[in-house]
Amino acid sequence: MISNRIGKKLGLIIVGVFLVVLVALGFALDVMFSNFYRTEMTTRVEELSKHMVAMASSPNTTTQEMIKDFAEFSEVSVFYVDGKENIVLHSGRHIPADRSFIQSEDVSSILSGSKVREEYTDDRGQRFFMIGMPVSHGDGQTEALYVLASSSHMESSLRNVRQLLVLAGLGAFLLALGITWLIAQILSRPLLQMQRATRKIAAGELETRLDISSRDEVGSLAESINDLAAHLQRYRDSQQEFFANISHELRTPITYLEGYAKVLKNRLYETDEERDQYLGIIEQESLRLQRLVNDLFELAKMEEGRFELNPDLLEFEEIVEQAVHKMEWRAKQKGLELKLDCHGPLPRLRGDGLRMEQIVINLLDNAISYTEEGSIIVTVDTRESRLLFAVEDTGVGIPENELSLIFERFYRVEKSRSRKFGGTGLGLSIVKKLVELQGGEIYVISTPGTGSRFEVTFPFPSPVEETGGTPR
Ligand SMILES: Nc1ncnc2c1ncn2[C@@H]1O[C@H](COP(=O)(O)OP(=O)(O)O)[C@@H](O)[C@H]1O
Ligand SMILES: [Mg+2]
Repeated sequence: MISNRIGKKLGLIIVGVFLVVLVALGFALDVMFSNFYRTEMTTRVEELSKHMVAMASSPNTTTQEMIKDFAEFSEVSVFYVDGKENIVLHSGRHIPADRSFIQSEDVSSILSGSKVREEYTDDRGQRFFMIGMPVSHGDGQTEALYVLASSSHMESSLRNVRQLLVLAGLGAFLLALGITWLIAQILSRPLLQMQRATRKIAAGELETRLDISSRDEVGSLAESINDLAAHLQRYRDSQQEFFANISHELRTPITYLEGYAKVLKNRLYETDEERDQYLGIIEQESLRLQRLVNDLFELAKMEEGRFELNPDLLEFEEIVEQAVHKMEWRAKQKGLELKLDCHGPLPRLRGDGLRMEQIVINLLDNAISYTEEGSIIVTVDTRESRLLFAVEDTGVGIPENELSLIFERFYRVEKSRSRKFGGTGLGLSIVKKLVELQGGEIYVISTPGTGSRFEVTFPFPSPVEETGGTPR
């Protein structure tokens, strides 16, 4: 079983990032709430103190009672401290015995008109906000007014907020964990599928296909794997077919050779003419075998990419002229007219001279072989800034549905007819390979019973490439 490692890695990263964000956010929220409550509290206590100072400053004798009530009502404790640090008035729950919040330097600075503000923790651990302010009486006497407000309310509120934050954080974390797991599954499942599929393909199960339809990178990777499998399958099938064809093609001439050799060895002939006829067949079949082996060897080299071209700047018309000249006797033998129509002068072409001749000869050979009467016209011209070489015959033609197949190895339209001419079915596949290796293209147009036209085009080299000489 393949472990879901990508899913785990992805999950860990997402959860890690989420945790960091969550902790930072929680911390920021906590600080924000603390500050908010503290500011709120400070403002409230300060306002209260100002109020009390205002009340205490009035000459009214009932003010002390009013301050006590006010303190009781506002849940704060109030202390009046005189210049000698004696508590003159006390109200509220804070015990008067605890005087530790009263510091001599504070008192003297309050009495000289300043305001003191502090946070203070008593010996029972209770926390207070403390504000000290000066109170001036009508008689010029100044006392210090201390207001102490317990922060227990604020702290319990803060505790609640923190609890809520932790709960919300935990919930969000669990949710993120779930979503991450889901995403990791969704993302890694196709990858695991692909891994399994590629293993199968590697093991030779080339019919394996992936069923992943997403339109993202994963989808296009799956598509590429499917293409690769299809390509490998096609390659394997064609390879198998190729070997089947080779053995068939080799077996036929070998059978002839064996048979006629036996006939000769056992002297199963009656006349010398008969013997010569058999020897002739043996010679013909040997030549066929030789041609087949040569063609196969050439094709194999091209397919393996071991094929070497010796590119040069060529005068293509000359190559065609020579090839036409070589084939003239064959055309004449069959009573065919062979005409060369050259629209020169043409720029030079970059290619391998011998290979170019092979292309021309192969096409001419086919045209002569598959034409019984009429003519073969060879054209050399330019078309859309490319060189055009065409061979047109008035021969048997090729059915439309077979036009795309004739360039395949061993494909022959009419097996017996082609064999009669010594054809191997490899000529056109070699021509196509040679044309493509030299940057060209090949097409065929044909009407059965009327004739065929094979067209080859090559690009002219750019002036920079033409280092071998100036164009004509
Ligand atoms: N000029 C042509 N006219 C008619 N048929 C042709 C022509 N050239 C090729 N063919 C058909 O295409 C097949 C493949 O050609 P090729 O690869 O040269 O093999 P072959 O060795 O049979 O000539 C031939 O068997 C023939 O049926
Ligand atoms: Mg041929």
